[in-house]
Amino acid sequence: MIARDGANESLWQNTSQAYIPTTQIDISKNYDVVIAGGGITGISTALQLQQAGLRCIVLEAHSLCFGTTGGTTAHLNTLLDTPYNTIAGNFGKEGASLVAQAVRESLNTVKANIERYQIDCNYEEATAYLFSQDEDQTKELESIREATVEAGVATAYTSTIPVPIPFEKALEIKNQAKFHPTRYVMALAKAFEEAGGTIIENCRVTATDNADPLVIKTNQGDIQTSWLIYATHIPPGVNLVHLRCAPYRSYAMAVRLADENYPAGLAYDMYDPYHYYRTQLIDGTPYLIAGGEDHKTAHEENTNTPFAKLESHIRKFFNVKEITNRWSSQYFEPADGLPYIGHMPGKPGKILVATGYGGNGITYSHVAARLLSSIVLNIESPYIKLFDPNRIKPIAGFTNFVKENVDVAKQLITGFFSKEKIHELADIAPGEGKIVKHDGHTLALYKDEAGQVHAINPRCPHLKCTVSWNLTEKTWDCPCHGARYNANGEVLTGPADMDLEKINLQKP
Ligand code: FES
Repeated sequence: MIARDGANESLWQNTSQAYIPTTQIDISKNYDVVIAGGGITGISTALQLQQAGLRCIVLEAHSLCFGTTGGTTAHLNTLLDTPYNTIAGNFGKEGASLVAQAVRESLNTVKANIERYQIDCNYEEATAYLFSQDEDQTKELESIREATVEAGVATAYTSTIPVPIPFEKALEIKNQAKFHPTRYVMALAKAFEEAGGTIIENCRVTATDNADPLVIKTNQGDIQTSWLIYATHIPPGVNLVHLRCAPYRSYAMAVRLADENYPAGLAYDMYDPYHYYRTQLIDGTPYLIAGGEDHKTAHEENTNTPFAKLESHIRKFFNVKEITNRWSSQYFEPADGLPYIGHMPGKPGKILVATGYGGNGITYSHVAARLLSSIVLNIESPYIKLFDPNRIKPIAGFTNFVKENVDVAKQLITGFFSKEKIHELADIAPGEGKIVKHDGHTLALYKDEAGQVHAINPRCPHLKCTVSWNLTEKTWDCPCHGARYNANGEVLTGPADMDLEKINLQKP
């Protein structure tokens, strides 16, 4: 069983063994590359660079696959969430062709890794289907087909789809794939260590400078390195990329079917947000994985609602025997449809980042691994310019924006909420949290399973937005840039790198 950044268990968690790193941190040693983040991007990048002869260390703030890698639905596809007609509109036809080429190479790399390291992760190639269900969607499907073909992805109309859902028109794209993502990453981590790499868990990067070599501060000591790569899904600190990536949550369920009628392909409808379906075989047992009902992080007051909608959608079309897992996870939608992979904006030195994958994180993880390796190894690549995070134009007044947001005066919350008032406001069930307002001031309350009330300052330490309670994952989620905290306010995922402030209720 592996840990994840939420209370719900994904299908991958209870069918994977936690990885136990065998290496010890060696602070005295200089590294060529520090990779912050032990998900699929961090581990695959680290392996690639270690194999190229560099000394690499992966620093994971929690445990491997703790973030979105443990909550993905693991589609390996060249049919992307941002369709090729949108990409061509923003980056030209040549840009769309390069994207198609990059994601094809990504899928080939995954397959090659599986063969090279003999990874048992139930990898299977599959055909993807995109289907329309009304006139407007059909029109859009036609324009997607045209742009997809033009980008170089072989696509054809088909009269059948693998899911029992009525449709008007459908496209099929062959040579896509699916696998068990965390088994894959754990095997890559083993290969990385065997190649001489170092992995340290529970090690958070807390600060860095811009010198050469870089000095990276962590909760386990300082490390010197030539390069730092943030593979943390979104980088910590305050950066232009935070203003260009919107955090979203997606909902997924793993289902056993009564009639064993599991779909063979990957299928996607065209609603906004869309639904997606696929089958995963794990140790001989098939599961239908269905997902959707996405919304902006912390914009759904009751996160049971998307789960209820998704379940009723699944039951409408499938003969459900049992829902074995339900979980939600986070992704970052980029402003112009392409991820930001390369030099971190505003950091001219050797600090790199990969973020803004949209809903195609598994596919883009290996685009990032290849591209980041090209930069570090000084190999020319047409993708460097295409995915460059510095394509974001500096925003006038950005520096002031940061200053104003960071300098917000700290509220003396305890002065406005008496102990009695807090207990009066904490009218919630054990295991639940809520934001309460009193006399113009706000407080986050969480009642633990024993009934004890914990009070937290709801101001996110990143840029001071107010967090919301995520009822189903039992987390505090920030609507602004997607930082997430456990019920006690301890940081789970960035961009924040500090906990929410705990309020001591014992104080007079
Ligand atoms: Fe930026 Fe919370 S994540 S303010």
